[in-house]
Amino acid sequence: MKCRSTGVDIPRIITYGQQPLGNGFLDRPDIEDEYFFEMAVGVNSDIALLQLEVQPNPEQMFHDNYAFYSRTSNFMVNHFNETADEIIEILEEDFPKDNDKFVVEIGSNDGVMLEHIVKKGIDCLGVEPSENVAKISNQYGIETISEFFSTELSHKILESYKNANVVYAANVFCHIPEINDLAEACSNLLKDNGYLIFEDPYLGDVIEKVSYDQIYDEHVYLFSCNSIKSIFAKYGLKLVKCKHLSTHGGSMRYYLKKNMDSDESTSLIKQLSHEDHLGMLSIEAYQKFAERCEVTKIGFKDRLIKAKEDNKRVIGYGATSKSTTILNYCDVGPELIEFITDTTPTKIGKFTPGKHVPVKSYDYFEPHPDLAVLFAWNHKKEILAKESNYMGEWMTHLYEEYV
Ligand code: SAH
Ligand code: TMP
Repeated sequence: MKCRSTGVDIPRIITYGQQPLGNGFLDRPDIEDEYFFEMAVGVNSDIALLQLEVQPNPEQMFHDNYAFYSRTSNFMVNHFNETADEIIEILEEDFPKDNDKFVVEIGSNDGVMLEHIVKKGIDCLGVEPSENVAKISNQYGIETISEFFSTELSHKILESYKNANVVYAANVFCHIPEINDLAEACSNLLKDNGYLIFEDPYLGDVIEKVSYDQIYDEHVYLFSCNSIKSIFAKYGLKLVKCKHLSTHGGSMRYYLKKNMDSDESTSLIKQLSHEDHLGMLSIEAYQKFAERCEVTKIGFKDRLIKAKEDNKRVIGYGATSKSTTILNYCDVGPELIEFITDTTPTKIGKFTPGKHVPVKSYDYFEPHPDLAVLFAWNHKKEILAKESNYMGEWMTHLYEEYV
């Protein structure tokens, strides 16, 4: 395959086999024409950029019935509240005399972050192609365009609105295959010295924890500081700072400025060379990662088979899109996991993509099972605090449990 950023030939490092849509929950378990694609992964180790070989059409994944609502996690609601405070601080510090401030969020979902910007009386705009969640955002009084962000859309936004001081995005840039078009679109939209701030699951964490479930149809990329520096510089956006976040099992927030003469922060310089020391700029690190995926695949299924032999009751916790990769890669279905509980109303009563494990409401966590598979492992702190009465065992697919 060719790297989507630089166009060079890059090697495949692993295939997770036939996979359905990560968020493609089914109404019935006996669907015959369920969509599958081979989910293979390549890497451009020159810039530490992991990418899917093929990605399903965005319209198949993001539509008027998108299953992920940002407001389902209290921890994330709080996270976006703090993010809004940080953006407001940047606006005040970097644009003190600008009376026409404007914030645009890409992939704004149900408006969880922009709600706080609107409340401060700052002009803002959401761009959110999934109509069901965009509708909620509009109901909160946030102007939201329900379209895919692209260079073409950036021109349309500039015709009807104005250049932005800050463009923000969370957990969406890794979804957008045309990365060069995306970088150009962000650059178009920004004022000179404006900030592009975005965060996504961090490749360094995925390699370290072997959290391969971050790879699913929607996540066409896993980024690093080195890759972001390289991709966006071509469009006049300089990576100036990075901040590691605990969200989604380990994310990186990137701060880029529309001014190529800006300085890199000390922490960014350290992180860029840290990635090099970790081996992220050489192919061996990814080969080792692929081997470790195979180790956890076997360990995960064996543990579930053993639990079944011991007559233990096993259920899953959190029907995450990430769990779709695990269940299909490890070949685990309702014969090993009775059902998965989830708090999202639109997932309850459905069946998981590909393996068709029933999804039940959170009430079904009681009577407690003997073993709970924590698929929402990235919300562990919040969940363990909530489930302090649970005396059974927890397990995940993460490498640390299988070495
Ligand atoms: N920012 C939110 C939502 C992340 S889920 C959060 O972090 O909780 C990803 C969101 O990006 C979805 O709501 C999806 O509809 C949207 N999205 C996908 N492709 C997009 C694109 N090309 N432009 C804008 N939004 C997109
Ligand atoms: P995410 O990992 O993509 O954020 O998805 C988390 C999923 O887990 C989502 O479907 C909601 C579910 N969930 C629960 O069922 N209970 C919880 O306490 C939390 C935090 C999430």
